[in-house]
Amino acid sequence: MKTLIRNIGKLVGIVPEGTLRKEGEEMGKVGYLDNAWLLIDGEKIDSFGQEGDNRYGTAQEAARIIDAAGGYVMPSFCDSHSHIVYAGSRYGEFRDKIDGLTYEQIAARGGGILNSADLLHETSEEDLFRQSLERAVEVMNMGTGALEIKSGYGLNTEDELKMLRVIRRLKASLPLEIRATFLGAHAVGRAYTGRQGEYVDMVCREMLPAVAAEGLADFVDVFCDSGFFTPEETMQILDAAQAYGLRGKIHANELAVSGGVQAGVSRGALSVDHLERTTDAETDILKGTATMPTMLPGASFFSNLPYGRAKDYIRAGLGVALASDYNPGSSPSGDMRFVMALGCIKMKLTPEEAFNACTLNSAYAMGLSHLTGSVTAGKLASLIITRPLPDLAFIPYSHHTPFISRIILKGREIS
Ligand code: NIG
Ligand code: FE
Repeated sequence: MKTLIRNIGKLVGIVPEGTLRKEGEEMGKVGYLDNAWLLIDGEKIDSFGQEGDNRYGTAQEAARIIDAAGGYVMPSFCDSHSHIVYAGSRYGEFRDKIDGLTYEQIAARGGGILNSADLLHETSEEDLFRQSLERAVEVMNMGTGALEIKSGYGLNTEDELKMLRVIRRLKASLPLEIRATFLGAHAVGRAYTGRQGEYVDMVCREMLPAVAAEGLADFVDVFCDSGFFTPEETMQILDAAQAYGLRGKIHANELAVSGGVQAGVSRGALSVDHLERTTDAETDILKGTATMPTMLPGASFFSNLPYGRAKDYIRAGLGVALASDYNPGSSPSGDMRFVMALGCIKMKLTPEEAFNACTLNSAYAMGLSHLTGSVTAGKLASLIITRPLPDLAFIPYSHHTPFISRIILKGREIS
């Protein structure tokens, strides 16, 4: 079935076919058309143009017409880093944090990730699916159309598989484009306390083959940071994952300059994420690689960490992606519009740079930019229709004023 969106005040995020990411100065540019139309065929964008042009007449024969009422039409947000499959919450630690405990102190007391793992262990797969579905629907309604979701609160084979099966069910249940990442090395499971090396061996020899046997993961991740896993352990896991065709998406440099960027780049990781702490060595090593530096300003905001030096990365000619890190400990929000606003307010990105970081580049960081993240013929018709806006800057500027009027995911209107 064909759907025509007409009366579009501005069609934004137009990218030529074949452009899979934006880097350097290109990050500051957003392609657009005023007074536009866009034709959807099934799940995909068929074509678009300006009202009154020579293809508009044919497009008007579409069975269904949506009036954008002068609003913007933009690609839905892409969120390449989340942990939305978890049980319960960690609001208790929120109080500890306010009282002055750091992320590491909370973790050292047995809180943090291990706390979530205990809760998840007690939760049935059905209940975990129900709780996670609620979060997935929440982010969809905030304009996210593509989402990466990690395991990593299981920390034993059965519970990691439980999480990944929940992600598989989410993939099958929603019009979101979802990618699954196996994060067995998020923390050392309780059964292996004091035996980190043995835990890493178990991740490689037991968990990875089990995950691969069921085809449950698209990527592999390691929390390479101070107090968690070392660069050597990270490379060991990435090497083991390579045998199953799983590329890395690494947690690095959240708590310290960890060597995780170097470890990830050396093994061809698709992205290195967090990067709250960084030196020039990281930008130098990323240049000319296929690895997308990804920053998570929601985690900086919630955990009072430094913000990543996104602007320096862009000046160095690199691309940057932004993602939510939606998780119960360091970023309990999946609001990509807020992420975009933090990118501008705290990282001094221009609205255009933040827009590209939250759409095309974030799609790239989960291997999806051939399919979504921009207005391009042949890509998924996963789009946000906004209320009429004076400028793209209004989206991050008015950071909590409702701006979405309608959402279309894979050609279907969801709200
Ligand atoms: O990306 N840093 C490691 N993992 C998550 C936090 C997980 C948690 O605290 O539950 C993050 O911030
Ligand atoms: Fe994370």
